[in-house]
Amino acid sequence: MSQSPSLHQLQEPNPFLRRHLGPDAQEQQAMLDALGVASRSELIEQTVPPGIRFNRPLDLPPALDEQAALARLVGHAAQNQLWTSLIGMGYHATITPTVILRNVLENPGWYTAYTPYQPEIAQGRLEALLNYQQMVIDLTGLALANASLLDEATAAAEAMAMARRVARSKSNAFFADEHCHPQTLSVLKTRAEGFGFDLIIDSVDNLAKHKVFGALLQYPDTHGEVRDLRPLIDQLHAQQALACVAADILSLVVLTPPGELGADVVLGSTQRFGVPMGYGGPHAAYFACRDDYKRAMPGRIIGVSRDARGNTALRMALQTREQHIRREKANSNICTAQVLLANIAGFYAVYHGPEGLQRIAQRVHRLTFILAAGLEAKGIKRLNQHFFDTLTLDVGGTQAAIIESAEAARINLRILGRGHLGVSLDETCNEATVLKLLDIFLGVDHGLDIATLDQQALLEGIPGALMRRTPILGHPVFNLHHSETEMLRYLKQLENKDLALNQSMIPLGSCTMKLNASSEMIPITWPEFALPHPFAPAAQVQGYKAMIDELESWLCAITGFDAICMQPNSGAQGEYAGLMAITRYHRSRHQPGRTLCLIPSSAHGTNPASAQMAGMEVVIVECDEDGNVDLDDLKAKARAAGERLSCLMVTYPSTHGVYEEGIREICEVVHQHGGQVYMDGANLNAQVGLARPADIGADVSHMNLHKTFCIPHGGGGPGMGPIGIRAHLKPFVASHPVVPVPGLEPTNSAVSAAPWGSASILPISWMYIAMMGPQLADASEVAILSANYLASQLRDAFPVLYRGRNQRVAHECIFDLRPLKALTGITEEDVAKRLMDYGFHAPTMSFPVPGTLMVEPTESESKAELDRFVEAMLAIRAEIAQVQEGNWPAEDNPLKHAPHTLADVLAPWDRPYSIEQGIAPSAHARQHKYWPAVNRVDNVYGDRNLFCACVPVEAYR
Ligand SMILES: Cc1ncc(COP(=O)(O)O)c(C=O)c1O
Repeated sequence: MSQSPSLHQLQEPNPFLRRHLGPDAQEQQAMLDALGVASRSELIEQTVPPGIRFNRPLDLPPALDEQAALARLVGHAAQNQLWTSLIGMGYHATITPTVILRNVLENPGWYTAYTPYQPEIAQGRLEALLNYQQMVIDLTGLALANASLLDEATAAAEAMAMARRVARSKSNAFFADEHCHPQTLSVLKTRAEGFGFDLIIDSVDNLAKHKVFGALLQYPDTHGEVRDLRPLIDQLHAQQALACVAADILSLVVLTPPGELGADVVLGSTQRFGVPMGYGGPHAAYFACRDDYKRAMPGRIIGVSRDARGNTALRMALQTREQHIRREKANSNICTAQVLLANIAGFYAVYHGPEGLQRIAQRVHRLTFILAAGLEAKGIKRLNQHFFDTLTLDVGGTQAAIIESAEAARINLRILGRGHLGVSLDETCNEATVLKLLDIFLGVDHGLDIATLDQQALLEGIPGALMRRTPILGHPVFNLHHSETEMLRYLKQLENKDLALNQSMIPLGSCTMKLNASSEMIPITWPEFALPHPFAPAAQVQGYKAMIDELESWLCAITGFDAICMQPNSGAQGEYAGLMAITRYHRSRHQPGRTLCLIPSSAHGTNPASAQMAGMEVVIVECDEDGNVDLDDLKAKARAAGERLSCLMVTYPSTHGVYEEGIREICEVVHQHGGQVYMDGANLNAQVGLARPADIGADVSHMNLHKTFCIPHGGGGPGMGPIGIRAHLKPFVASHPVVPVPGLEPTNSAVSAAPWGSASILPISWMYIAMMGPQLADASEVAILSANYLASQLRDAFPVLYRGRNQRVAHECIFDLRPLKALTGITEEDVAKRLMDYGFHAPTMSFPVPGTLMVEPTESESKAELDRFVEAMLAIRAEIAQVQEGNWPAEDNPLKHAPHTLADVLAPWDRPYSIEQGIAPSAHARQHKYWPAVNRVDNVYGDRNLFCACVPVEAYR
């Protein structure tokens, strides 16, 4: 009889699980042996408090293998219809240059990197972001730009908040032109509600009647009108108010920049610079302001500094403005932004250069002009006198017929009330598009032809006074890389400077840098997901609906919540959205005075920053010496807050990397005092399949899909921070003014520009859950195993600061460097930088406890990689011992000089250790040397000599 296995036996039960998990069964056993436990379940029993355990399999469909999951998603994608969307409203079709598509958007070297907190290993993306800032500076005519915000609407809300911080006007009112995009007005409403500002939405003709601290104008406005903003800006300045302008980025190539018209802040979306519409996102919003306001600006700013050798080096500037340091006094809660998309927009400008962009902008305008001329010749009334790319037309009683013929041609127009229609052209449009539109509006026998219309010069689309006169993109970087070969090499050069997940593990605590599997990533550039307009009619996006509905139901099963609000496009936005829902809930129960938010001292900075934005007063709850929330302090503060208690924001497992035993009681105390529990879900990777936030007592929680659910971090974004909510909060979460979200209260204003946030990256999380199914619990268990393994291997060298029951840690752990610093002067920063010489990204530095390193290995790293990290850390500990023993001077040793670069090797070597010890201290480094591009970056110099634009090319020589 044949001994060969049966077909059934040859079928692997869950092949993706094996790919997703780093250590295989044997390696896991070895790790368990090292911990002295027999099995994973024994370890989990020792680690996770029994009182919170979810003791059954997750109610999810069985795992699909990679091909089957992709095939199922193809089925969803096929239900999305690819129409030509000329709706405009801040979203336009665009062409992603294929060299950028393949080498950036689809390249893990770019998309798996983290926010550039460690600048020495992030010079590539920092340079790309500096290019982006320079592009924004040139196009807006302002002095300073940040490195991206989440979307145009939230950028407008940030401008409003910034205006309040800096305007001298004492008014509490902010004005918004009624002709701003409706989603922007909706987000402004939400934010004004949180801050307690009076929001006035009115015609700009009435601006003079209002006393305000700032105003938002749109340029061109939502109906396409291009007006000279100078008189309005002058009116605002006369009352010491700030003029904020939301501007279309492509129009700025040909229009006078708002900065030259006197604007104080200019913001908008860079989507149409090569980033697909993606049914709403992700796209980078840009934000520029006058130099005077640099300290008040929200978001990350990339600045130029120097390294230890005096060479040019880039870094994130002015970080002291941000929530990590300033907490509830921070300028904003922005943490994850849209770095990958900002890089793409910046590269689009590098690829096309000034002439290329001018050609694109002029062509779009010319096509619009030809369309306008044809329609005008045939008596169709245009409502906007001047225009760049958008026409608003009064078609009266023919509206229904026109819509019908547009539908027959699979074209989406913007449908406005009172017989009005809008049409916006973009870089994908051509003569055929315009001809089709003439047919649609006028009927096929209109007799017009493009060539004749093109020769006419009857219309003045852009007023003469608003034609751009200042050149753009004069820096060499925008003029050197126009052949594909040059562009390809430039992208590769930058990529090579950075350390991403395709190089080594990135053990950043609180960041969950796990595998972003190729099968998860592949669908995001499928046209069916990449191309739809966010306001496309529901019938055209049924595939999106099916995919999002499924994902929501899966996330409910995983978290125990009753519903999901998919709108927030970062974790911090989720916090804000959840807190606003809590506020509205209390108000609905006639308890508007419940505005006090309790936050443990260990919380992430976004927690207090978001609470402040939601109009809450922050009260800090102390932690005890084991790092747990001090229950007595919590009780006392909840009691003292009484009727003013709104909520507690608590991270679970705690930011100290521990499952607090008292979490249920913590939640009960808050509920007893009439408060709600907001659970920061950044650490959900330690709960999936093992415990559920809603069961523990949370009322609302955000889940960072860019951590637990595999959306890559993109070098600082994108992300998605949907919130899970219990049923009583559902009536209070954000909906959308243009596309009300089914099942939610339609009058609730929005928190993001698009109804489902950054919808086009949701397939990543969908694929992950589809391929893992109920075995998601295995991922959590292995994440916990790996963290405990690292803690046990390193504890003799570096003390583990906090532990939970049975001396176990959760999915991450904090190593305390302070005792060694006291003995030797070697700091956590020295160790972090030295790890680069060993080819590693540093763990999270000094969060949540100064002087520590927080390590989160995730389930995706193999035992070999974990051991390599252990070896590097132990070797570093031995180096510290050399300093301790006086063999190396305190300031002249491989730790203080780290990271080492080629410049060190090329300079005369006069150090008390060898070159080899400096640059290649491990066998791995000798074989696979990763060279940090610069020596240690001088943080102080960069802030003292703030410079946030492209430096001359010579600076890099
Ligand atoms: C504990 C915690 N809460 C909230 C956040 C904020 O999430 P996001 O960066 O997506 O805004 C983070 C991000 O690192 C975090 O670690």
